Amino acid sequence: MIHGPNLNLLGERQPEIYGSKTLAELNDEISSAARELRVEVDCVQHNGEGEIVSAIHDARTRYDGIVINPGAYAHYSYAIADAIASVRIPVVEAHLSNIAAREPHRRISVTAASCVGSVSGFGGQSYILALRALLSAV
Ligand code: DQA
Repeated sequence: MIHGPNLNLLGERQPEIYGSKTLAELNDEISSAARELRVEVDCVQHNGEGEIVSAIHDARTRYDGIVINPGAYAHYSYAIADAIASVRIPVVEAHLSNIAAREPHRRISVTAASCVGSVSGFGGQSYILALRALLSAV
């Protein structure tokens, strides 16, 4: 599970959009869901684009798949889109908010085009739904 930029501030960051749970609380929920699904999940968060590219590269030999919330990079990072397209493991994109219903610059995800699919708009549940979707893709 790769969380992108500014998601370390969840809980205090625009709670009216992203909810009041912290990233640690969301990661706990993801870990509980993973236990129920009998899969192992590691959660990381990076603010830097290059760190996310490297995390995707590193994951390709260590994990069976990736759930990623690229944050704002979703809207313009061709480097992350290329990294996703460069690995053979399936990648599912997740967003807390419904990016299709937000400002015009958020409605396009250039990274989602490299993913097997995406989930957007269900708050923390987006991650659980994305994890379930990923399991059907590995
Ligand atoms: C987000 C949506 C992005 O537009 C925004 O930049 C984020 C969070 C989401 O999860 O809803 O950082 O990825």
